[in-house]
Amino acid sequence: MKITLKNAAEIIKNGELVAFPTETVYGLGADAWNTNAVKKTFQTKGRPADNPLIVHISRLEQVQALAIDIPHDFYSLADAFWPGPLTMVLKKHHTIPDIVTGRLTTVAIRMPDHPLAIALIDQTGPLTAPSANPSGKPSPTRAEHVDYDYNGEIPVLDGGATEIGLESTVLDLSTGQPEILRPGAVTRGMIEKIIKKNVHETGDTDFKSTKSPGTRYTHYKPAASVHWLEKLPVQYDTLAYYIIHSKSAPEESRNVHSYPGDLEGIARDLYDHFRTADHLNFPQIFVETLSPAVKTPIAKALLNRVDKAVGK
Ligand code: TXA
Ligand code: MG
Repeated sequence: MKITLKNAAEIIKNGELVAFPTETVYGLGADAWNTNAVKKTFQTKGRPADNPLIVHISRLEQVQALAIDIPHDFYSLADAFWPGPLTMVLKKHHTIPDIVTGRLTTVAIRMPDHPLAIALIDQTGPLTAPSANPSGKPSPTRAEHVDYDYNGEIPVLDGGATEIGLESTVLDLSTGQPEILRPGAVTRGMIEKIIKKNVHETGDTDFKSTKSPGTRYTHYKPAASVHWLEKLPVQYDTLAYYIIHSKSAPEESRNVHSYPGDLEGIARDLYDHFRTADHLNFPQIFVETLSPAVKTPIAKALLNRVDKAVGK
């Protein structure tokens, strides 16, 4: 159900939920200080209570009420990447309701790069916002996805299609060793360049993090089974859905979607393709494999999300 900005702010202040656009995906917003409102977020999504939420802010000063012992690196990174697709985990201020952080002693914070999100938060104060999908499903990248997922019952601020299409990078700054818990559009290399420190990342051969509670659960899965495609077929199976990047499709058809050299385009449209394939009842989705040598910043996040959808 589409609503206006003024409406959205009123609904949040009344302790209800509003979906809103960010540059990554649509979030399901609630007043971060209102325990009951936040509780509705978990109920609506069917989200496990031990999977904490990101608190979204519109001005840097808001961090003071949310976190303690804030390291210098946080300010350098905020300066470089906010507003933008970087979530930073800090030690939590004791006044944040436990339900927000799944009882952890840390809190995840992000300033989204979207004028509607910023305007809304300016009126309401900090908002918790998980991706606005039912738990386990692909995140919404259009207002229509939210309407579809919740039968039009969730008020949604329509900002059109999101720009990046994959969720933010989650970076833990709560210990002495910065660690990426979820890859996104802001990469390890970009972060290291700013803080001039070595950053750990899950997937490093000698390092496996279990710190991000969300990574324990199924994610980003359409109803169709998703597979990596090692080699493009000579003839595309008309009963399968393809997303490819090394070549153009023979001719643009409803089941072969080609992004020659454009991984950002695949990232932007990935969840929309997952949803379209489901609507059209394709039982299988094939995504052309990415060479580990690819240096496009979004490649690591894209690999991670498709891996999860595949079921790895
Ligand atoms: O791009 C995004 O980050 C979107 C938009 C709406 O901002 N939000 C989003 O939220 O993806 P969600 O709830 O779907 O994913 C948040 C991730 C989860 O993996 C969660 O476990 C992790 O962040 N997280 C939240 N708080 C944390 C904390 N205190 N420590 C470690 N991980 C945390
Ligand atoms: Mg999510």
